[in-house]
Amino acid sequence: MPETSNARPPIAIDGPAVSGKSSVGKAFASRIGYRFLDTGLMYRAATWNAVQNGVDVSDAQSVAAAAETMEFSVTDSESGDNLIVINGEDVTKHLHSIQVDDAVSSVAAVGRVREIMVAEQQRLAGEGEIVMVGRDIGTVVLPDAPLKIYLTATARTRAIRRHRDFIAEGTEVELEVILRSMEQRDLADSSRENSPLRPADDALVVDTDDLSFDEVVEKLIELVEEVL
Ligand code: DC
Repeated sequence: MPETSNARPPIAIDGPAVSGKSSVGKAFASRIGYRFLDTGLMYRAATWNAVQNGVDVSDAQSVAAAAETMEFSVTDSESGDNLIVINGEDVTKHLHSIQVDDAVSSVAAVGRVREIMVAEQQRLAGEGEIVMVGRDIGTVVLPDAPLKIYLTATARTRAIRRHRDFIAEGTEVELEVILRSMEQRDLADSSRENSPLRPADDALVVDTDDLSFDEVVEKLIELVEEVL
C-alpha cells in the first residue's frame, strides 16, 4: 500500500451491526482531523447496483460480474458524510433501503466483491489520514494499522439503541423483533467463510454497553493519545 509522507497512520474500527461504529467513527474522525470512510456503504452500493440490474443476489457469479463492471467512487459531503456515486449517479440515499438491507449480507459474502472493495479501501487508505470502519478492517484491509479498535455491545443493548431510533422516527417495531434480527445478522457476519467479523488479535476492544456516545468518542481519543 502506498504511504503518504508525514501522514498519520490509518485507524481501523470494526464491530457488529449497530455498535455505533459509523456515528462514533465519523465524530471521532472529525475530532482528530481524519477523513472518515464507512466501508459498509461500499457493500451496500454493490448491492444496490446488483438489485437495480435485476441480478439474482443468491447467484455469486452474477453478483461478482455486476460488481466488476460497476464504476463507483466515494466522496465526502461538506459535513464529512460519505457519498457514493455509481456510473455517474449519487445513490447514497438508497443505500439504507429495506431492499438493500435484505440483500447486502449475500453480496458481502461474495469473495470477488470483497476483493474489489478491499482494493479500493487500501487505495483510499494510501491517500492518508483516514478512520475506516467495517467488519474486516483490522483483520484484512489494514492489518498493519497501529491502532485497531473493536467496538462492541451486547445484542440487547444494540437492539434497544435501534429501537430508540425507530421510536424517534415515528416507526413502531417491537424490541424483540429487532433483537432477533440483530442476532441473525451477528451470526451471518461472524460465521461467513470470507472475512468473518472478529477482532484482530491486536485490536483494543471497547465495550460500549455502559458508555454514552460522547464517552465512546472520548475513549477513542484517549486511545489515539496512548497508542499513536
Ligand atoms: O455496517 P453496515 O450494516 O452498513 O454493513 C452492511 C453490510 O456489509 C453488512 O452485511 C456487513 C457488510 N460489511 C462487510 O462485510 N465488511 C465491511 N468492511 C463492512 C460491511
